[in-house]
Amino acid sequence: MATTATPAETREPLADAKWWREAVVYQVYVRSFADANGDGIGDLAGVRARLPYLRDLGVDALWFNPWYPSPLADNGYDIADYRSIDPALGSLAEAERLIAEARALGVRTIVDIVPNHISNEHPWFRAALASPAGSPERERFWFRPGAGDDGELPPNGWQSIFGGSAWTRTDHTGAEWYLHLFAPEQPDLNWTHPDVWAEHEDVLRFWFDRGVAGVRIDSAALLVKDPQLAEETADSAPGEHPYMDRDTLHDIYRRWRAVADSYEEPRVLVGEIWLPDPDRFARYLRPDELHTAFNFDFLACPWEPGAMRTSIESALAAHAPVDAPATWVLSNHDVTRPVTRYGRADTSFAFESRRAGTPTDLARGTRRARAAALLAMALPGSMYIYQGEELGLPEVEDIPVERRQDPLWRRSGGLDPGRDGCRIPLPWTGDRPPYGFSRDGAERAWLDQPDDWAPLTVAAQSEDPTSTLALYREGLRLRRSVPWSGDGGLRWLPSSDAVLAFARGDLFACLVNFGPDPVELPPGADVLIASNVLEGGALAQDTTVWLRQAAPDPVRQNRTKGRDDEAHS
Ligand code: GLC
Repeated sequence: MATTATPAETREPLADAKWWREAVVYQVYVRSFADANGDGIGDLAGVRARLPYLRDLGVDALWFNPWYPSPLADNGYDIADYRSIDPALGSLAEAERLIAEARALGVRTIVDIVPNHISNEHPWFRAALASPAGSPERERFWFRPGAGDDGELPPNGWQSIFGGSAWTRTDHTGAEWYLHLFAPEQPDLNWTHPDVWAEHEDVLRFWFDRGVAGVRIDSAALLVKDPQLAEETADSAPGEHPYMDRDTLHDIYRRWRAVADSYEEPRVLVGEIWLPDPDRFARYLRPDELHTAFNFDFLACPWEPGAMRTSIESALAAHAPVDAPATWVLSNHDVTRPVTRYGRADTSFAFESRRAGTPTDLARGTRRARAAALLAMALPGSMYIYQGEELGLPEVEDIPVERRQDPLWRRSGGLDPGRDGCRIPLPWTGDRPPYGFSRDGAERAWLDQPDDWAPLTVAAQSEDPTSTLALYREGLRLRRSVPWSGDGGLRWLPSSDAVLAFARGDLFACLVNFGPDPVELPPGADVLIASNVLEGGALAQDTTVWLRQAAPDPVRQNRTKGRDDEAHS
């Protein structure tokens, strides 16, 4: 496998207004990225110092998880002030410098916007609690009288996504309850209220004016609620669920798109949308709404050729009519790290079935995660990389109870292991914690790093041409230069059931072997990159290879049914 990197200085940013269609976006979880001031918490100074690492990795944009002042009831997704930076992470001036410095290196910035809920310490919610029932301050939220003779029961049976009722009583004598689809410290906003619309449009402009290239919209399909607060039913028709995927949401995003489009370099809207129905999902990506949304179907898909092919086909088919690019996502700060998940008997991901302590073969998981990464890089559309994915970090599962932070763990009574295990501080260098995350002698990191991560540090992997980091660097470098055209379609090639094989353009092909039998490569093809060693020139199990076809389109000669095989993004 070749490892020569293009000199970083010569890398051009994706220049045109459609850069987002094929961008590689790197997700920065600031608290765990790099700690410059030695308090055990990652910070903006740490990110600024590591910008060359991100440029050299070959990413086009950085998405920052919420960096705003927050009481951290949900690790920053409970925002107390949308126009400022958490002092533990830095200052607004420093964020502005970071945005500008990244851009000077050819890397754009995307910030996280949380419109469904705010922190219970946000001035709006404090004012609401201090005001009586029926006051204008309470109308920005969902305050309702309780059910039961004395209002002692929640207004309805909605359940919080973090467990328990979605309602909390204001106090034990108060007649009212308020809605929170997540933790009680995250009261839901009332999106029928004009203040809520105006405030968010202003927040968008605030960050767009500071040079950010776009926003990632948290819980984007949950904002609008049924004003009647009807109970959930198992079989609600599309658009009829009381708090998910309701049609008025599209009016909000059309307004936001107009704001984004009003900039000389139009800003980009990326939705966090967990919806099982690909066609409902794609409605958010119509030309006057969001630009892209995370493809969680691919993220959750088991490592099986049939399921993977179906997931890829259905994503491309759903995106084509709205002319939006698909996104390819293998992980984020909410889900089990891929090397762990792919090393288990059940390789799919679902919040409902996530359990700690499942037997895991990490070597196998790592092999598969590498193959999945090269597959994702080869697909038409844009790609997301969650920090540490490029290092092949595993999920940390043995976090002591007293060190756990995630409300998901607490509110599920420990049934759900929570998300702390994928949020462990990155290992940069050295042979013991904090592995260069903080300087020596710094405070203990906010989550402990394992003792056996020395081989996974950036420094160690940079020395090793077979490392996962080397694979990501080389794969992303090649992704900019391979002989395919933009985000045009892919064409499936004939293959056995254990293999996924597709072409893009006439010269490029990607093969993934899921099965135990080695697969011979087509004669005359050059290997551009492989996720693992090719044994005797053949593709072993759980390996992906990129090929440059020798002759123009030998692939077409193999095709059996003309354009029926084509899938376009
Ligand atoms: C999103 C975030 C998650 C957060 C939740 C509530 O799903 O990715 O981390 O807990 O929204 O804001």
